[in-house]
Parts: sequence; structure tokens; C-alpha cells
Amino acid sequence: MLLDLGDLSVRSWRKSDLDALVRHANNPKIAANLRDQFPHPYRRRDGIDYLEFVREQVPERNFALQYAGEAIGGIGFQIGVDISRVSAEMGYWVSESYWGRGFATRAAQATSDWAFEKYKLTRVFALVFSGNLASIRVLEKAGFQREGILRRSAIKYGVVLDQLIFAKVR
Ligand SMILES: CC(C)(COP(=O)(O)OP(=O)(O)OC[C@H]1O[C@@H](n2cnc3c(N)ncnc32)[C@H](O)[C@@H]1OP(=O)(O)O)[C@@H](O)C(=O)NCCC(=O)NCCS
Repeated sequence: MLLDLGDLSVRSWRKSDLDALVRHANNPKIAANLRDQFPHPYRRRDGIDYLEFVREQVPERNFALQYAGEAIGGIGFQIGVDISRVSAEMGYWVSESYWGRGFATRAAQATSDWAFEKYKLTRVFALVFSGNLASIRVLEKAGFQREGILRRSAIKYGVVLDQLIFAKVR
């Protein structure tokens, strides 16, 4: 997979991304806003396991964000099953070294648009902790609409949190 967004691209993960993946992902500020499945510390073994896992997926559902020849983040989808198979959840992260440059917005917009065709979806949605203002802004800028609040729907590091649900439909 390759989405060419000019200086930025969204592409399949490669085995050779391991060093960059571990360097950029090993950041508590990133892990704090993602599921517990995204570990902290992010060790080399986590990177190896992740790259093996994503490279075996059919169809491919997790991709690297590439800038200046290096993987600097990730974006991916969980596709629903049974009656929810037309619906997919999107998640993403960007290395702190590149925050505030519009990369997450561009990637979320282009990759969600691409996913509708690729996975035959009618809906792409994202769940975001209610305090994650940067990601809320990303979703608004990427064309997602806020649909509601899932009160006390998640627990992160022992704290119960509200999540906002954003979606784009076709
Ligand atoms: C959320 C994240 C992906 C944003 O990446 P990014 O490339 O910096 O995002 P963008 O540059 O496209 O947009 C960020 C927007 O949030 C705004 N923003 C950043 N911090 C903010 C804050 N504390 N309060 C309000 N707005 C904030 C920026 O100003 C920008 O908006 P603007 O263009 O209107 O000025 C990145 O911070 C990250 O990886 N965080 C950890 C993982 C995560 O939260 N993933 C999403 C889970 S739902």
C-alpha cells in the first residue's frame, strides 16, 4: 500500500522500520493516549512482534507514516464483524518530534478516504479520550463529525475516562 501525500506518505510497514519504530514509539506521551496494547516502554521486542503481526495481516490494516525516508508514526483500522463489517475504527499516532505540522490530519484524511473503497465501508470512526485535544482537532480537520460522548467508557492507568466518538460516513 502507498498513499503519496507529497512530503508525507502512508505505506506498508517494512522490517527495516524497526529502529525508527522503536525510537519514535517509545514515548509515554504517545502511549498515554492509546490503548494499553501500545506498550510503554516500547522495547525492541515490541517492535519486532508488531512488525511481524502487521505484515501477516490480510488485508493489510496497519500502515506507517513516512517522512524524510523514515517511519515516524502509524495509522490503522479495526474492521467490524458480522453486521458491523461496513464499519471500521481508525487509530493513529505521530512521533513527538513531528507534532504540530499537520501530519496526523493529512494522514487521517487521506487514509480514511482510501479505506472506504479498500474495505467497502460505509463508516469510519474514531474514539478519543475527551482530554486529548490535539486528536480531537485532528479528527475535526480531517472531516470527521463528533457524534457523541461515551461516558466512563475506558480506563487508562487506573483512571476512568470519557471517550468522544467521531465518524465519517459515505
Ligand atoms: C494526536 C496526534 C496524532 C496529533 O498529531 P499531529 O501530527 O501533531 O497533528 P496535527 O499537526 O495534524 O494537528 C494537531 C492539532 O491539534 C492542535 N493541538 C495540539 N495540542 C493541542 C492542545 N493541547 N489543545 C488544543 N489543540 C491542540 C494543534 O494546534 C493542531 O491544530 P491546528 O492545526 O488547528 O493548530 C499526536 O499528538 C499523537 O500521536 N498523540 C499521541 C497518540 C494519540 O493521541 N493518538 C490518537 C488517539 S485517538
